[in-house]
Amino acid sequence: MKFNGFAYINTIGCQMNVYDSEKLLGILNSYGFESTNDLEKADIVVCNTCSIRHKAEEKAFSFLGRFAKIKKQKPHLITVMAGCVAQQEGKKAFERVPHLDIVLGTRAFARFGQHLEALKAGKRQIVDIEDSSMIYESEPDTSCFDETQVSRFVTIMQGCENFCTYCVVPYVRGAERSRSSEKIVEEITLLAKAGIKEITLLGQNVNSYGKKEGEISFPKLLEKINAIEGLKRIRFATSHPKDLSIDLIYAIKELVKVCNHLHLPVQSGSNTILKKMNRGYTRKIYKEKIALLKKECPQIALSTDIIVGFPSETRQDYEDTKSLLQDIEFDSIFAFAYSDRSSAPAAKFGDQIAEKEKKVRLNDLLGMQDLVTQKKNREQIGKIIDVLVEGKSLKKRDGFELSGKNMEQMMGRTESNKIVHFPSEHVRIGDIVSVKIENAYPHSLWGHPMERDTSGVR
Ligand code: SAH
Ligand code: SF4
Ligand code: F3S
Repeated sequence: MKFNGFAYINTIGCQMNVYDSEKLLGILNSYGFESTNDLEKADIVVCNTCSIRHKAEEKAFSFLGRFAKIKKQKPHLITVMAGCVAQQEGKKAFERVPHLDIVLGTRAFARFGQHLEALKAGKRQIVDIEDSSMIYESEPDTSCFDETQVSRFVTIMQGCENFCTYCVVPYVRGAERSRSSEKIVEEITLLAKAGIKEITLLGQNVNSYGKKEGEISFPKLLEKINAIEGLKRIRFATSHPKDLSIDLIYAIKELVKVCNHLHLPVQSGSNTILKKMNRGYTRKIYKEKIALLKKECPQIALSTDIIVGFPSETRQDYEDTKSLLQDIEFDSIFAFAYSDRSSAPAAKFGDQIAEKEKKVRLNDLLGMQDLVTQKKNREQIGKIIDVLVEGKSLKKRDGFELSGKNMEQMMGRTESNKIVHFPSEHVRIGDIVSVKIENAYPHSLWGHPMERDTSGVR
């Protein structure tokens, strides 16, 4: 069955949702829809949702809510809620958004086409939140590629079984399951052939990749991907500190395409809170792992996630988090105020911290980290760093020398994921260029390329 018209996808949430949205778009394309960025033109609107924090969930409801009016003037418009909020709410979603046509849970993507057909045949208010332990596989497809893209996400595993007490992921994404290494290598080989230079492997806990299925280990998977021709950089997220293995540390050290960067969410610096969060490590264990990592990979850049205001977090617990950040000096952090999620166990813990206090702690923490990030950025001045070119800079800095007829201000990223702006006449998107860093700002570095571009050379 074919449809005619345009599809608009709004993606909220993590990188996995970005990857999933591309798969949804592939399905929509195969049913005859063309992709559009113009909401007004859309004949089908899909919101791929996130329920990690209250705010993300509200964003989804408010986006979808506004189609009630539009649907009156455009009755054929199809509206779909997909992803984590869809999985969490099921048919309850219709109470807040009665005009919704399809509620598509996180494990129902393979059946999206079927539901579109049922809708065309007259079925209304379709809900699919069936729990399927199957991994969703689709044939790799590069037809909807944007040629200027350098970097892509590839999900290697789905679900999570860590049950951190604040987190909805195990409930909305289900049990952990890994894709086969052959399928992953096949997909990345195709991406590399299509010109992609960097991939980020996605999973809630990549270190347990393949364990349940008896697949090769994550470091072994990295080794296979490292051998793929044309690919220049490999990133991955997320590693859980409790499972960070020495083999992974060696893989970062030895595999030339694996970036010298690790995102290792610590969440809190207080042992009491870590225990209540069910994280499975102490402050000491975390610090020991970081020390080992720094010993083996002295140039490693580190980033982390922090939650402030977890139920019962005292001022001292919070100070412990601050001191951990000061000790380790992460290159960057993502910090969040704890958001109560009714499906997660911590919602029943009591002893909630006032919203106002959570905000105070969050702003204080971010302020402190800004200074650390700036210090880390300033340490780059004078260094010559490889930058993977992503495109022209959107930001222009006054006084930045742009002499020469074809001189453009370009931007790219270092292995450590720092943004670098530099002037150049002849680099191409996807080149790796050595840039001498001359200036450091809170969120970016600025410099000049060395005389000859080292295109493709590492
Ligand atoms: N699997 C990854 C993280 C996935 S969610 C890991 O274990 O690290 C991304 C981040 O959102 C988490 O690291 C955490 O810092 C934050 N987060 C998750 N649930 C939250 C909640 N209820 N309130 C605030 N932040 C939360
Ligand atoms: Fe959530 Fe913890 Fe799983 Fe990460 S490891 S997704 S924080 S339950
Ligand atoms: Fe959000 Fe679901 Fe990702 S809850 S963070 S979109 S796994």
